[in-house]
Amino acid sequence: MKSMYERATKVMPPVANRATTLGVINSEDYYLYTEDGRKILDFASGVAVNNLGNKNKKVVEAVKEQLNTMIHVGHNVVYYESYVALAEKLVELTGGDTMVYFSNSGAEVNEGALKLAKYITGRPGIISFKNSFHGRTIGCCSITGSSSAYRKYYEPLMPGVYWADYANCYRCPFGKEKCHCNMECLKQFDSIFHKLIDPACIAAMIVEPVQGEGGYIVPPKEFLQGLRRICDKHGILLIYDEIQTGIGRTGELFAYQTFDVKPDILTSAKALSGGIPLAALIAKKEFMRKWPAGAHGGTFGGNPLACAAALKTLEIIEEENLLDNCKTMGKYLMESLYSLQEKYTDIIGEVRGIGLMCGIEFVDEQGNPDGELASYIKKKALEEGLLLLTCGSDHNVVRFIAPLTVTEKEIDQAVLIIDKVIAEK
Ligand SMILES: Cc1ncc(COP(=O)(O)O)c(C=O)c1O
Repeated sequence: MKSMYERATKVMPPVANRATTLGVINSEDYYLYTEDGRKILDFASGVAVNNLGNKNKKVVEAVKEQLNTMIHVGHNVVYYESYVALAEKLVELTGGDTMVYFSNSGAEVNEGALKLAKYITGRPGIISFKNSFHGRTIGCCSITGSSSAYRKYYEPLMPGVYWADYANCYRCPFGKEKCHCNMECLKQFDSIFHKLIDPACIAAMIVEPVQGEGGYIVPPKEFLQGLRRICDKHGILLIYDEIQTGIGRTGELFAYQTFDVKPDILTSAKALSGGIPLAALIAKKEFMRKWPAGAHGGTFGGNPLACAAALKTLEIIEEENLLDNCKTMGKYLMESLYSLQEKYTDIIGEVRGIGLMCGIEFVDEQGNPDGELASYIKKKALEEGLLLLTCGSDHNVVRFIAPLTVTEKEIDQAVLIIDKVIAEK
């Protein structure tokens, strides 16, 4: 019998190629079950979606209950309980001075964030960061700076985008040493504003509080504080793309709470709703109130099933103290990864992370990014029953996206596999 992979490649284009060739027939908690009878420890979490583990039972029940009343009635047409209640909950969780608009995907809410910022300020320019990832629409490709592959042949993209360097202290774009750097990453804006675009022409700065696809790069808090100051000084709106960092991944519900630096606009998707597509654009009330009917929209955003799943997801995170578990298990994982780094100093350039957003950067003898090695480790780990993903512009960072429910047992199992795979290489 043909595998799902063989069948899929006959009917789907290469653009739909997967990170693996696994055909999955069931999923539960920490594990995926494949068509060829394998049980795989899932540290990919559907790319940071399954923060409660696979197919969380309480979420399943909440969705079933919602199914009994409605599947789709149209948020453009009527109001319904799960939609309003979820907006109320998200406003409460983001300080009470916000409003919420629902869409379906990360890219879609980032589009919304750009449109809102342009609408409110009446300004054309956007500042984005090299190494960033914000999605696949034309607007989002225009502000994505982690790979030219995302942009190839799609030019001309949205005009008015200006690029800044992100605070990557391991590979400082300004050639500085951590703690002796004078924060050149903040000073760069003097030059951008002087030579490229006047700050009065910039609507927004969009930034991931921790860069995800760009390599799990955790910036110093001072960087995010500095961006906030610069935006305030020039009336620029600060957008946090929390599509990967949000819903507990960094140890607080949103990374802005982890870093204690609040944006004007926040985008959330991925883990928001237990695996059912949903995205939220959350922004300060003073801006949202000025965004009139018709200026933005969509048919499916805020689907009843997705909203019910999101309400249950947020409830579970609170009731089961998953933010605490994320911090504790994140620390435990980081300590295990530091031990690996001590053992394999020649190939592990850096171990970094915050909460359960952790990665290992693999390097060659000269300390250059070694994407081939990272791919090899990922492939061999899968053969041993551990699913991991890579990230980074050079694909040389192996990332660990464990669910927030993870225990020491699964972390030990994963680290043991990585250790074995590196030792046998
Ligand atoms: C930080 C970030 N922004 C935006 C997106 C795009 O989200 P979606 O794939 O749901 O459009 C992603 C997806 O990986 C992401 O990690």
